[in-house]
Amino acid sequence: MKPLTVKDNVYSVGAIDWDRRLFDALIPLPDGTSYNAYFVDGGDKTALIDTVDPTMTGVLIKQLKDLPPVDYIICHHVEQDHSGAIPDILSIYPKAEVLCSKTAKGLIIEHLHVDESDIRVVEDGEKLKLDRYTLEFIYAPWVHWPETMVTYVPENKTLFSCDFFGSHIATGELYVTDWERCYEPAKRYYAEIMMPFAKIIGNNLEKLEPYEIDTICPSHGPAYPEPGMIMDAYRDWALSEPKNVVVIPYISMHGSTDAMVKHLTSALVERGVGVEVFDISVTDLGKIAIALVDAATVVIGTPTVLGGPHPLAVYAAFIAAALRPKARFASIIGSYGWGGKTVEVLSGIIGKLKAELITPVLIKGKPRPEDFKALDELADSILKKHKDNGYL
Ligand code: FEO
Repeated sequence: MKPLTVKDNVYSVGAIDWDRRLFDALIPLPDGTSYNAYFVDGGDKTALIDTVDPTMTGVLIKQLKDLPPVDYIICHHVEQDHSGAIPDILSIYPKAEVLCSKTAKGLIIEHLHVDESDIRVVEDGEKLKLDRYTLEFIYAPWVHWPETMVTYVPENKTLFSCDFFGSHIATGELYVTDWERCYEPAKRYYAEIMMPFAKIIGNNLEKLEPYEIDTICPSHGPAYPEPGMIMDAYRDWALSEPKNVVVIPYISMHGSTDAMVKHLTSALVERGVGVEVFDISVTDLGKIAIALVDAATVVIGTPTVLGGPHPLAVYAAFIAAALRPKARFASIIGSYGWGGKTVEVLSGIIGKLKAELITPVLIKGKPRPEDFKALDELADSILKKHKDNGYL
C-alpha cells in the first residue's frame, strides 16, 4: 500500500490488520484493527508519528521507502502495537531521534532495548518547530499507559492522539464517513481500553479544550474529520451519570439459573428498567464491556460448581471489576446443588466495582414460586435505587 495523504505533507503510513481477532490475547476484535502511523514532512526535517505492531513492520518500511528519511520518531505510547517497529526504523534511519515523554524513556529501553542515546525526552507542552509545521507535545497520561502523550499541530489543527479516541476497526477509509458504523467500534475500544481510566480521561479532555482541533488522527481506526463526534461521545461515556440499565452476564448449567435470569429480566422490563442480558458461554466479552459503559447495575447470574461460582462467571466478574465501570449497584443470582461459597467468592471480586451490593438471590435447585418472588423483590430494589439516584 502507498502512503495516503492525510493533510498537505502529512501521510498515513501505518498498517491495517484485517485478520487480527484478538488483542492482548484477551480482547476480541470482530472488526480487525489498524496500527496507524503518520509521516509529517516538515520541509527541513521529518517526523514519524508512532510506528506499528511488530508483525506489520514490513508494511511501514515499504511505505516509508518513497518518502524523505525519518529525522524524528515520535513515540506517544510504548505498548508494542505502536512502538514495536521503532528498533527496525532506527536501524534503517540510524540518525533518527526518538522523542517521548519522561515516563516513556525507561519503558522504551526496557521493552524495546533501544539505546538510551537514541532517545530524547520532550517536556509537556514542548514545541518542535519544523519549517512547515510545529509539533506540540502534550502529556496525556493513562490513555492508555502512564507515559502516553499526544501531539498537536497548530498549522493544520490536527491532533495525533494515539490510543486516545481510537477504535478497533479495519477499514480502507482514512476518515470516518459513517459515524453510525464507527460508533460501536469506538465505544468497544473505550470500554475495553479506556474505561478503567474514566476520571483521568476527563482531565485529559479538559486539557485539550484550549486547542482548536479540526481533525483527530488516532493510532487505531479511522481519523475524525469532525472531532466533536468522538469527543462528545467520550464525555458521555466517561463523565455522564449511569443510565437506567441493568447488565446481566450469566451462565447456567441445568436451566435453573437461566430461569431465574429470564424471570428477573421480565420483572425489570415490566418496571421500566432497561436490561442487557449476556450468556457468558457464547458472548463476545467486548459486548459486555460496551454494555457496562452505561449500566447503573450489574447482576451476575451463576450456578454453583465445585463449591463456588462457575469459572466463566468468575471470569466475567473479574473483567467487569477490572474495567471499573460506573455501575453503582451490583447483585448476584443463581442456583446451587447442595451448598458452596458462590456469594462470598463473587462479592469479593465485584467488591472492586465499588458498587453497593443488593441482597443476592441464591436458591437450592430449581426455582419455586417463593424464589421468583425474591427476584421480583430484587427488581423492586433495583428500580428504587435507580429512581432514588435519578437514573429513571
Ligand atoms: Fe494501541 Fe495501548 O496500545
